[in-house]
Amino acid sequence: MIAQAGPDASSLAFPDGPRYPRIVQAWLWLKKPTWFLDRCSRTYGDVFTMRLPFGITMVHLTRPELVKAVFGGDNDVVRAGEANATILEPLVGPQSVLVLDGPEHLRQRKLILPAFHGDRMRAWEAAVREITRAEIARWPAGRPFALRPSMQSITLEVIVRLVFGVDGSVRGDELRRHILRLTAIGRNPFLLFATRDRRLGPYAPWARFLQARDALDAALVAEIRQRRDRPDLEQRGDVLSALLLARDDEGRAMTDDEVRDELVTLLFAGHETTATSLAWAFDLLLHDPRALDRLVAELDSDASEYLDATITETLRVRPVIAVVDRHVRQAVRIGGHAIPAGTIACPNIYLAQRRADLYPDPAAFRPDRFLGQAPPAFGWFPFGGGIRRCLGASFATFEMRVVIPEVLRAVTLRPASPRPARIRREAVTFVPHDGARCVVTGHRLPP
Ligand code: HEM
Repeated sequence: MIAQAGPDASSLAFPDGPRYPRIVQAWLWLKKPTWFLDRCSRTYGDVFTMRLPFGITMVHLTRPELVKAVFGGDNDVVRAGEANATILEPLVGPQSVLVLDGPEHLRQRKLILPAFHGDRMRAWEAAVREITRAEIARWPAGRPFALRPSMQSITLEVIVRLVFGVDGSVRGDELRRHILRLTAIGRNPFLLFATRDRRLGPYAPWARFLQARDALDAALVAEIRQRRDRPDLEQRGDVLSALLLARDDEGRAMTDDEVRDELVTLLFAGHETTATSLAWAFDLLLHDPRALDRLVAELDSDASEYLDATITETLRVRPVIAVVDRHVRQAVRIGGHAIPAGTIACPNIYLAQRRADLYPDPAAFRPDRFLGQAPPAFGWFPFGGGIRRCLGASFATFEMRVVIPEVLRAVTLRPASPRPARIRREAVTFVPHDGARCVVTGHRLPP
């Protein structure tokens, strides 16, 4: 259990960690994140402290019971919204479920969650298949191309059509353009620090970011206003229409600003994460012909056990988000350590999911480990946990369960390089360094 530190806390040790200057740790965290995490874990064990510029102190936790303590901890004491806000608020806005804490956070969660109900998602399946097929038709035959941008096109189209409910119109093109511009700017890892310290305001990528964000905002607010007046909201299956119809416990609807903030949140929490997980799934499968053959054979038989195991294993060995952050507001004890107020407690997804005591040969891609076997509690949490667990987890899994079979039924692929891609950081995500390059070698269905 997480406990307030109490008077005896001075006898507890603050977790040890690397002694390099903060700026060097920041460079390693941005540029060599997996090397740095692996090294810290080998040297300091299950709990270690990373010190970054601007007084940022992160305590990484990799043991399941410590992760459980943080996820189950008092949400007034360990706050996710506050921690997320430092980086994300300029993008997602002050009313986003990601940056709120306490009752306001729960209110937004309850308003959003029904929009991702299972029945509603099942109705989206045909559209996701169609979007995937249209993308496959654009793939070149016989020469290498990167799968990740292609997966990004699919998940972006899914968001524009099924989340925003905008279909083939001028507004759809406008939204896509603004989103792509903003996403490209957001890839600059140094923006992470610009959001921490607004004195970096005049710094050019930051100014470009603000311009791009305002343009997307304007297009979204115009769409929200027009949509409110539509008589067919009840019949439409998209998330925006569901948000406009949602009412909280007091019967209040969401304001335009709240809806805008949540749409941007769903877009940025859901678009690149899902696309990158899909790219990793293909990169791992194409470099493991036995797993690939087994999955293709299973698809022909209409079963999905191996597909589910493949998705679970991909999210384990290549988690797109490596850590989740919780801002510690009052000194607490976690395990045998004193964690002072002002630090960030970080359940570390990447390291916890590579523990040799939970997963034999932990760095290897082996879907079989999840056949008939549920992941260990708090040893598999690619979607975070507790009352902050990813709101789009079932939506992302649903998309992966549709897109992977659709691709494997349509084409045969081979990897463009002999070894799986290296993990590289892009803003807050871990992505394949080469975009998961592959070659279409044949069509199983007519192109
Ligand atoms: C494979 C794809 C995805 C991964 C790996 C992922 C991962 C995560 C993680 C690690 C968190 C933080 C949880 C925590 O702090 O404990 C999160 C939060 C969130 N995600 Fe996802 N996500 C994915 C897809 C999506 C999708 C498709 C959507 C929606 C369209 C979405 C919406 C959200 C939202 C709204 C939150 C904030 C929840 C809250 O603070 O209460 N995510 N996600």
